[in-house]
Amino acid sequence: MSATTTRTAAAGPSGSRVVIFDTTLRDGEQSPGASMNLDEKIKIALLLEEMGVDVIEAGFPIASNGDFEAVREIAKLVKGSAVCGLSRAGRMDIDRAWEAVQHAARPRIHTFISTSPLHMKWKLQMEPEQVHQAVIDSVTHARNLCPDVEWSCEDGSRTEHDFLCRTVESAIKAGARTINVPDTVGYAVPEEFAALIRMLFERVPNIDKAVISVHCHNDLGLAVANSLAAIGAGARQVECTVNGLGERAGNASMEEIVMALKTRHDVLPYATGVKTELITRASRLVSAITGFVVQPNKAIVGANAFAHESGIHQDGMLKHAGTYEIMTPESVGLTKSSLVMGKHSGRHAFKMKLKELGFDLGDNAVNDTFRRFKDLADRKKDVYDEDIVALVDDEVVRGHDRVRFVSLQVIAGSKGPQSAELELDIDGERHAAKTTGNGPVDATFNAIKQMVPHAARLQLYQVHAVTEGTDAQAEVTVRLDESGKSVNGQGSDPDTLVASARAYIHALNKLLTKRAKTAPAAMSA
Ligand code: KIV
Ligand code: ZN
Repeated sequence: MSATTTRTAAAGPSGSRVVIFDTTLRDGEQSPGASMNLDEKIKIALLLEEMGVDVIEAGFPIASNGDFEAVREIAKLVKGSAVCGLSRAGRMDIDRAWEAVQHAARPRIHTFISTSPLHMKWKLQMEPEQVHQAVIDSVTHARNLCPDVEWSCEDGSRTEHDFLCRTVESAIKAGARTINVPDTVGYAVPEEFAALIRMLFERVPNIDKAVISVHCHNDLGLAVANSLAAIGAGARQVECTVNGLGERAGNASMEEIVMALKTRHDVLPYATGVKTELITRASRLVSAITGFVVQPNKAIVGANAFAHESGIHQDGMLKHAGTYEIMTPESVGLTKSSLVMGKHSGRHAFKMKLKELGFDLGDNAVNDTFRRFKDLADRKKDVYDEDIVALVDDEVVRGHDRVRFVSLQVIAGSKGPQSAELELDIDGERHAAKTTGNGPVDATFNAIKQMVPHAARLQLYQVHAVTEGTDAQAEVTVRLDESGKSVNGQGSDPDTLVASARAYIHALNKLLTKRAKTAPAAMSA
């Protein structure tokens, strides 16, 4: 065994165990249009905890009051995972992060500063010596508040090696328990990134006192490959997000890392604590909340990831599933349906189906979803699992909306003018409007604007069919932008226009919630 391997094993929590650090709620939320409200963040955090994620980065507390509140609430609720708040190197940032996480069962402060020549010169406008001092001061201050401190060298993959070794050594000496090396701009390639991690193990004398972590962005589509290469070189924490959500091309995808380690244990002999059977549920929840549709051919969680279309493949699958399937659909939580649902299905069967699909809803949500299921079953011959998932997603994201859809009547077609007659429930009061527009969608949105006046700009309008067939439910995503803040809304219904109205109203509700809160400082990491 080489000296490097020996030190690596000592640095890891138990040799081959890889810590899964999920940053869906922080780096994931930083992707434009993916902002989430408090309820939504809590739902995701609780599911991450149930999945067995080791560390949940719940937000960037100094960024806004909303972020602070979300981190604080999640810290209070989550018991099974460490809850982490991000902060820059300043004392105020660190204090705010501590204020937010201090009530967690296992609080963590994650503080960072850039260390690459480019970032130090242009972004920070600081000399390397000043940055080095800031590393010592920030980690020391954080460590005086919190026993678990993580330090990140932002743009680590483009940092000069001597300076990187020096700052890492100083951060560990100042008390950091985890050292995170980000490939902030997704520039690294696997061999090079693994060599960087090996270099740290070889040159930093106190490296065995910390867990080495990596945080890879996906600009070249290499985030997962780089993370796996780093694990091979001794990293024992990976930072990742559900569905690979994140800034620009996103972060390393949690489900891909976890399933690669599980499926190729023969060549990647490392373990995580993630219950992989909850992967599909997490993917759907994050997609429903953010409105970021998962591409059909996305590894692990794409709609086609386990679909076998070609005759040759189907024939092979019938003879032996292993011919074309390297992991089972069940291992990621895709169950073969045992209950077929239709208009004669009762409440009990519906509740069983929800359970089978992995949903655990409160009584009110079950009642509301059941009502919509009955309505759907009256209008649609076959109700597939995907339809029920879409209904639940729709219900889950609605939360405590102030504006609610009641009914819609539209006149469409080539003769024009297209018009919409819409009824809404606003703060418990019934309102109605009749408007025209340039097409039925425009007419519908105009009716909403008439009843809830606002200056938000429509940035995105996207429709996708939940299942096949002309009676399939439409799932619509709408993105609205108001003063540089964008929010996504979703809606589903067999009627595309009703789904559109629901999606627009959902986005509007999010804007209303945002308006009600004041955001003192907009910032990003
Ligand atoms: O990409 C990055 O460098 C980050 C750090 C704040 C960890 O998100
Ligand atoms: Zn990042």
